[in-house]
Amino acid sequence: MAQRIPVVAGNWKMNFDHLEATYFIQKLAWLLRDAHFDFKGTEIVIMPSFTSIRSVQVLIEAEKMRIGVGAQTVSETSDGAFTGDISAQMLARLGCKYVIIGHSERRKYHPEDDANIVDKVRAVLAADMNPILCVGESFEERKQGIELEYAVNQVHDVMRDLSDKEAQRMLIAYEPIWAVGTGMVATPQSAQDAANAIRDYFKKTYGTDVSEKVRILYGGSVNASNAQALMEGPDVDGFLVGGAALDAEEFSRIARLTSRSARRRLAHR
Ligand code: PGA
Repeated sequence: MAQRIPVVAGNWKMNFDHLEATYFIQKLAWLLRDAHFDFKGTEIVIMPSFTSIRSVQVLIEAEKMRIGVGAQTVSETSDGAFTGDISAQMLARLGCKYVIIGHSERRKYHPEDDANIVDKVRAVLAADMNPILCVGESFEERKQGIELEYAVNQVHDVMRDLSDKEAQRMLIAYEPIWAVGTGMVATPQSAQDAANAIRDYFKKTYGTDVSEKVRILYGGSVNASNAQALMEGPDVDGFLVGGAALDAEEFSRIARLTSRSARRRLAHR
């Protein structure tokens, strides 16, 4: 079985200007260093607003911090007359490693749908970054008991034309819409069931090699009180954290709990 490095990604959404962002990053780096955090065993990534990415990047590089930077969305086009858009190439030049695509808030408030999500995924892959594709059911689908098919179909709609090489660079975030920003969290069993169903899809479509490499995150009201239980699921490879990523101490606790679970997982292999 491949050893997957868990990721704890903080999605700041529309919070923090560049001054608040750099202050937060310094505090987070200090908290993690102070706790002797195992940066090799667990990846830490922050997704600030576009306006803060450059300041965060400069700080991280200058201080040689082992914190990754990502973006919350991207344009599907590479350049041209697209007022207000930001291309994947621009993000790659800023040192971004990950880009969230298809977050439920973007699917709801912006026309981010399956058609342009495919193009955004391609643009991110072409710029040598890793897409974090968000999928997950609303309360309606959960009531009908079709949440697993729903999430897998969302993955399939985006993945259908991607090669094995591209597939293994994907990260999938299972984020049930009813759990995002609500304080309602999926049970560890249902997070594991969804992650397992998605991994199974990768296995059937691309084979074991790819499916064992793809990292599947859980997102939706993750905090330091539920992170450890959620990491019990062997297919859950970390988290996409919203609200709790706005508090450096809480976020560093989630990171430490994830890292501890990852070490335990390794010891039991
Ligand atoms: P939440 O957000 O942790 O506040 O529920 C998660 C997300 O939107 O990615």
